[in-house]
Amino acid sequence: MKTVFLLNKTGLMEKCRRSMMMSSLGLLIALSSYVSATEYDQAKRIHQRLSGVPATAAVLEDMANFIKTGDGAAATAIAMADDGFYNVTLKNFATPWTNESQTVFADLNDYTATVIGMVRDDVDFRQILSADTVYVAEGISGLSAYSMSNNSHYEQLDAGNYSLQTYLVAKNQSDLTSLPSDATAGVMTSRAASKAFFIDGTNRAMLRFTLINHLCRDLEAVKDITRPADRIRQDVSRSPGGDSRIFLNTCIGCHTGMDPLAQAFAYYDYSYDSEADEMGDAGQLVYTPGAVQEKYHFNNANFAPGFVTKNDQWDNYWRAGQNKLMGWSQALTGSGQGAKSMGTELANSDAFAQCQVKKVFENVCLKKPINEADSIQVNLMKTRFIAANYSMKTAFSDASLYCSGD
Ligand code: HEC
Repeated sequence: MKTVFLLNKTGLMEKCRRSMMMSSLGLLIALSSYVSATEYDQAKRIHQRLSGVPATAAVLEDMANFIKTGDGAAATAIAMADDGFYNVTLKNFATPWTNESQTVFADLNDYTATVIGMVRDDVDFRQILSADTVYVAEGISGLSAYSMSNNSHYEQLDAGNYSLQTYLVAKNQSDLTSLPSDATAGVMTSRAASKAFFIDGTNRAMLRFTLINHLCRDLEAVKDITRPADRIRQDVSRSPGGDSRIFLNTCIGCHTGMDPLAQAFAYYDYSYDSEADEMGDAGQLVYTPGAVQEKYHFNNANFAPGFVTKNDQWDNYWRAGQNKLMGWSQALTGSGQGAKSMGTELANSDAFAQCQVKKVFENVCLKKPINEADSIQVNLMKTRFIAANYSMKTAFSDASLYCSGD
């Protein structure tokens, strides 16, 4: 009896143990169908970095599940479908490129909207410097129409907090402006860029800021005093302060390469009433095919034998010398007429692709590439960006996965 009881008791305990094991097994199985905290945290960070706004638990769960199955791109696509990616992240990404002080605190404008639209539509991003494209909002009642002489359309779009992802549509610049199609050059012929970089001056600013914003180089970085000086305009003194050595050692460094490239803009100006409208808020881009803008002949007595601009023929002197390293396309000739082909020249350089992915890396990772792993990542992003037909979404996705934490 005693034995039986003991046996029974052991049997009971055994049963008990088994059922405990069964239930913990069940718990394990149940747990593994949920994502781990790490994947959830990664999803959270990816969403925050890409959209600028927090996500709902359900969205994070979906993203984390994709991360868990190794499909990071599907996870990032969810975050990039959020309005915040367009209204916050991309807007802040592009706005500093559209003004001279490079501030993010500027109104929405046609340049920014065109960047946002091209990213949304996954347009080959090289088009940004040459396309006959501008993005405008459609389907919102009461919005002022696009205008060459004011920014109201975009200011109202911004003030109304409308979804840029939803309402932006691609239009031809040549349909909405007075520019013929072959005079359009992507964002360089946007109203915002014209107002910022064709205003006053000598049109060299458009080249300088395009280099800064899309090749990640200011002129200091491309200075090369070994290039021929034959295209330097008359306004650049050959002996500043009476010293020709300064010209030969300094001025030449930027102007040999810059002047023959900025000649592409010879027929453009930003026209405004400098007395009634100091900031040029009511001004507009003008294009005078065949007639070189007066600004190309300012101060022509500074050095009368200097180069006289007769047309919009541009040549890239930086294809030789140290700036060969910028990786110019062998499929292009390095010469042409007008802004469109010059923009194509810049956008097909290795420096352009490198710059786009570097900007994306910094925007998403909130740091510059600082160590070797970061540099390897930026190069990988460049390869994938190019292979994906210059897809900015691919670059944003790659950067956010890289910086999603472990
Ligand atoms: C680091 C590059 C760089 C160097 C070096 C340089 N320039 Fe310039 N220069 C520019 C840029 C960029 C502009 C266009 C400025 C703008 O409109 O924003 C410019 C414009 C000019 C202009 C047109 C007037 C103006 O201010 O826009 C003159 C004249 C000129 N430079 C003369 C010189 C002389 C003389 C030297 C040598 C003492 C020199 N530059 C050295 C980059 C350079």
